[in-house]
Amino acid sequence: MRKLCIMISALLMLAVSATADERKTIRISTDNTDMILQVNDKGRLYMVYLGDKLLNASDADKLEWSVYTGSDGSVSRRGHEAYMSSGGEDFFEPALAVTHADGDMTTYLYYKDSETHAIDGGTETVIRLADKKYPLEVTLHYAAYEHQNVIKAWSEITHNEKSDITLWRYASTMLYFNEPAYYLTNYHSEWAREAQPTTQKLTYGKKTIDTKLGTRAAMYMQPYFELGIGAPAQEGTGRAMLGTIGWTGNFSCTFEVDNVGGLRVIPGINPYASDYKLKAGDKFVTPEFIFTFSNNGTGEASRNLHDWARLYQLKDGKGDRMTLLNNWESTGFDFNQEKLAGVMEDAAKLGVDMFLLDDGWFANKYPRNNDTAGLGDWEPNEAKLPQGVAGLTAAAKKAGVKFGIWIEPEMINPKSRLFEEHPDWVIMQSERDTYYYRNQLVLDLANPKVQDYVFGVADKILTDNPDVAYFKWDCNSPITNIRSPYLKKKQSNLYVDYVRGLYNVLKRLKAKYPDVPMMLCSGGGARCDYEALKYFTEYWCSDNTDPYERIYIQWSMSKFFPVKAMAAHVTDWNRGSSIKFRLDVASMCKLGFDIDVHKLSESDLKLCQQAVANYNRLKPVILDGDMYHLVSPYETSHAALNYVSKDKSRAVLFAYDLHPRYKEPQPNVRLQGLDPMRVYNVTEINLPDGHKAETKSYTGDYLMKIGLSVLSASDGTSHVYELTTAN
Ligand code: GLA
Repeated sequence: MRKLCIMISALLMLAVSATADERKTIRISTDNTDMILQVNDKGRLYMVYLGDKLLNASDADKLEWSVYTGSDGSVSRRGHEAYMSSGGEDFFEPALAVTHADGDMTTYLYYKDSETHAIDGGTETVIRLADKKYPLEVTLHYAAYEHQNVIKAWSEITHNEKSDITLWRYASTMLYFNEPAYYLTNYHSEWAREAQPTTQKLTYGKKTIDTKLGTRAAMYMQPYFELGIGAPAQEGTGRAMLGTIGWTGNFSCTFEVDNVGGLRVIPGINPYASDYKLKAGDKFVTPEFIFTFSNNGTGEASRNLHDWARLYQLKDGKGDRMTLLNNWESTGFDFNQEKLAGVMEDAAKLGVDMFLLDDGWFANKYPRNNDTAGLGDWEPNEAKLPQGVAGLTAAAKKAGVKFGIWIEPEMINPKSRLFEEHPDWVIMQSERDTYYYRNQLVLDLANPKVQDYVFGVADKILTDNPDVAYFKWDCNSPITNIRSPYLKKKQSNLYVDYVRGLYNVLKRLKAKYPDVPMMLCSGGGARCDYEALKYFTEYWCSDNTDPYERIYIQWSMSKFFPVKAMAAHVTDWNRGSSIKFRLDVASMCKLGFDIDVHKLSESDLKLCQQAVANYNRLKPVILDGDMYHLVSPYETSHAALNYVSKDKSRAVLFAYDLHPRYKEPQPNVRLQGLDPMRVYNVTEINLPDGHKAETKSYTGDYLMKIGLSVLSASDGTSHVYELTTAN
């Protein structure tokens, strides 16, 4: 036994690969990228390199941590401290700022030790830093996924001071660049107008993208960006970084160009109204910041992220996805058991896998017949559904489809039994006028009892009805009237503790029901981050399903998320567009429908059925293949994308004419990602009744160099081509 203990402690010593006395270089590598950190002679940790992978390992040792020569010729020892703290040596935005228990506002971090261990898909490097004056520690984590070229960085802060300390900056990480020019593309949003890109040169000073919505990351600004290095980021050429924060709440990312033109990127939770009181012994864990580089434009970087997400981050990223028929657009709140049983028959007729029941099925004292009442009372409404959820799952079984259900368990209407029983569970200002967003308020998830309740909502549905196969989890209100009854004098912890409370609930649900797929929704596409996607198989990109507009939203979002995680439905938004156009747009993501099937003409119904069958055949290519953005709707009046299976034996090409000018000449669309030496049979699919498709054969080389004439000058047309190989 004693021998075993000695052996274990010897192994532990080996794992701790360096001590503070050594001057040490730490290299965090993927196949194409190196991030190199170095401990300087004072024991502080600096980032000395972030860029293309160094081919000769010994070159890393030649890197110097001191970089600046001042205007008077003196050498400044400032450099790029890996996790810069406030209060002393640096005059720019820090990663960490602390008011210690005694009121002191300085923190200096010194290297303690580090280790690197294997994780699924790569390595994780853990570096411990500590202040010498105060018992405060920061642990930096860098998970590097070799083949996908993705790095995830986050930090942990702990202390043992006599009383609470206050954190007022707590970034996930800090990245430094020294380049001639930087261009930021960020994505602003509005309800039904999500993810619109805007590009600008970063000049001296700060640019921050952030939100203050509490329950969600996005709505006015998306939590992701492109950084063009040297030139604006482009799809197919140039050096670019894609970055995104995994946090389902207020985020911020600051880009600061310092006095000598160096750029710091500082992503994390938004510290706005969130001076965080941290108890001794507690650990503050920041969200993960996820980034990837490419020298071949954002397209390659996107495919890196897609692969990584499917393999390591997204819930059931390797699994299948169900097609569905939702009833929100066709019935709204107006339905009963019989009507829904009919919609389930319609789902079966369409050929989709599942019927998804939306809002309006619950609450009795204050029935949920519109959006002013009922949220919080999650029992089936007896007038509409006398047989409860069990009656619905039985009807779905009879129709031969699965059954999914909508919930919004974090929210409450003041007109609800829950509000009458538990006003103390609600985030609100009792002595001020209440501001309602969609007539509702947000439950206080900082309170563990409320977490139990929210978990219980989903748990009860699944326990009572094991045939429920899917949740659509909605969140329609930001946090308003900010005041947590639970947090009492620690109100500035609320924004952070709300999101942590939500994750506690989601973790418990995933542990108990690992196989239940769930769609994340937030008044459209406001919840769209990679931490939430650990618990959700997909997210709703936007309530805007007008196919013309949806193309833009999907184009932007698919730069950061695999289309497998992006739900898209065929609806009646913009009925002026053909059903084919709507089908083709939705078929580029996770396909669903939200239409009244009875209103479809016979030929339109046939086309829908055919498109579902085609989609089922093509799912492995669309959802699990490589995606190429070919013709941008932002730059032309068309759009084209193709998907290629990993073995390059199959592909799908989607081509759209949005609003082309009269007789506008159309260049060929050149495909990407094919095998140049193979012959592909190209057949148009999703064709209306009576249109017979011919099959033509081309080499991959031809398709990529010469391309196909698939665009036209007629408004609102679309074409889908299936490519197969004989071998
Ligand atoms: C939100 C969602 C919609 C729908 C409604 C129901 O707005 O984005 O898809 O579920 O809630 O109230």
